[in-house]
Amino acid sequence: MADETNNRRVEPFVMVIFGASGDLARRKLLPAIFRLWQQGLLGEAFDVVGFARSEMADETFRQGLMESITDSSLLERETIDQAAWEAFASHLHYHRGDYGSQADYKALARKVNSLGGPDQEANCLFYLATPPGAFETVISHLNQAGLARRGQHSPWSRLVIEKPFGHDLNSAQQLNAAALGAFEEGQVFRIDHYLGKETVQNILVLRFANSVFEHLWGHDYVDHVQITVSESLGVGSRGSYYDQAGALRDMVQNHMMHLLSLVAMEPPISLTAQAIRNEKEKVLRSLRPIPPACAANGVVRGQYTTGVLAGKSLAGYRSTPNVRADSGTETFVAFKAYIDNWRWASVPFYLRTGKCLPRRCTEISIHFKDVPQVLFNKPPAGPLQANVLAIRVQPEEGISLEFQAKAPGPAMNIQPLRMDFDYEKSFGATPPDAYERLLLDAAMGDATLFTRSDEVLAAWRFVMPIISGCSQARAENLHEYPAGSWGPAAAEELIRADGREWHLR
Ligand code: BG6
Repeated sequence: MADETNNRRVEPFVMVIFGASGDLARRKLLPAIFRLWQQGLLGEAFDVVGFARSEMADETFRQGLMESITDSSLLERETIDQAAWEAFASHLHYHRGDYGSQADYKALARKVNSLGGPDQEANCLFYLATPPGAFETVISHLNQAGLARRGQHSPWSRLVIEKPFGHDLNSAQQLNAAALGAFEEGQVFRIDHYLGKETVQNILVLRFANSVFEHLWGHDYVDHVQITVSESLGVGSRGSYYDQAGALRDMVQNHMMHLLSLVAMEPPISLTAQAIRNEKEKVLRSLRPIPPACAANGVVRGQYTTGVLAGKSLAGYRSTPNVRADSGTETFVAFKAYIDNWRWASVPFYLRTGKCLPRRCTEISIHFKDVPQVLFNKPPAGPLQANVLAIRVQPEEGISLEFQAKAPGPAMNIQPLRMDFDYEKSFGATPPDAYERLLLDAAMGDATLFTRSDEVLAAWRFVMPIISGCSQARAENLHEYPAGSWGPAAAEELIRADGREWHLR
C-alpha cells in the first residue's frame, strides 16, 4: 500500500459508471475523479462513460455533473476554472441503457472500445453505483457482452462494487458467486469508503511504524477498546433503503468491522493486499460468536424519536419518508465483542454507532490497564485515570494520548493531561475525500484498501446471529432515544455494568 503506491502511473482506461445519474455518482464519484484529474493523477488518457436508463445527450450529462460538482462538499464553485472544466468535460460521455438489455451492453462495448483507440480494446473499470438489486444483472450482462475479460492480463477489466455486499450471508454469497463467476478475485474491488480515509490507513502506520505501541497492544496492557461511530444526521432521504438495513447492516457489518480488524490484527508479513487482508480476515474469524439468544439481551438496539440538536427540533425516525410507521429498524446499536485469540484474550471491545447523536465523530480508543494501587494510584491521589490512546478518525482527525502529570507546586497533585496530534496542524491540510484514494487505487489495480470476498463473508457470519437474535426479540429489544442524545440509557448500562464509561460523551 502506501510505500508501493508512490510514483505509480495509471494506464489509460475507461471508467464505466452504472447508475451514473444517481446520488453517489454525482456527489462522490465524479467530484473525486475531477479532483484526481486536477492533481494530474489520471493523466489525459482516461474517459468516463455514464450508463443509466434516462435518455440524455453527452452535453446534458456534463452540465448536470458540473452543477453537482460545484455543489458538492469537495469543491467550492470558485475553485473551478472554466477552461479546466471544459478540458475535463471532454473526457465525459453518456450511454443510455437498460441494465437488463444485452443489446445495450453490446453497444456499450463498441463505445468503450472506440474510446480505447483504433484496433484495440480499452482497459475498463466498471463501477456498480446502481441500487444493489441490479448488481448481479449488470455483472452477468458484462460477462455475456465479453466485457468482463477474466484474468489480470492487459487490456484489463475490473469491477468496483459499492456496499451493501448483500443483505445477509446468503445474498452476499450469491453476489460473490456472481462476481467471481465473471471476474477473478483480483479483479473485484469491493469499496468500503472507510478504508479510504487517511486516518484509517494511519492505524497501520501508528501500530507498525512506531516501536512504542505494539508491545503494549494486547491483553497484558490493554483493559478494553472502544469504537464509536457517531453521526449527528438522521436517515434523511434514504428511508426506503435504511428501513430494510438498520445500523447493524449499514455500519457494523462493514465500516466497524474494518476498524476493528485493523486495530486488532497481527503484523502482516508485508504490505501487499494479500498479506494485510489475510490478517484482517483472521481477526473476523476469531470474533466470539454472539448467539441469537444472547443478542436479545447483550446487544442494545435503539431508534431515535423526536428531539433537539443544536437548538433545532428533529423529527423521529418513524416520520422519515419511506419508513414504516411501526418500523422496528435500529438506528443505534451498542454491544460488546471478544476476539478469541492469544493477543486479545478476555479484552472487551465495545462498539457503538448511531444516527441523530449529539455530534459527528468516529473514534477508536485504546484504554490501558490501571497502574497498581501502590504509590500514586491510591487515596488521596487515586484512583487515577488510566491511559487512553484515542484515534480520532473524523472529524478533527488526529490522535491523542491521555496520561497523568504532576501539577506544579509543593503538593503531589496529579492531573490528567492530553498530548495531541492534529492532522491539519501537522500537515497543513485536512485529509482528502476517501473516494479519491479508492478510485485511484482501483484504476491502478491495488486492492489493499478494498474488501476481499472472505472478509465480507466472515463479517456477515459474525453479524447474522445478532441480526436474527434481535429480530426475534424485536419489540422488547428496541429502545427509544431522543434525537440529539447519546442513545438509549441501556447503552450506558451496558458498559457501566463492567465498571467502565464511554470515552466519547
Ligand atoms: C454509509 C452509510 O456507508 O456511511 C451511511 O450507508 C453513513 O448511513 C455513512 O451515514 C457514514 O460515512 P461517513 O464517511 O460520513 O462517516
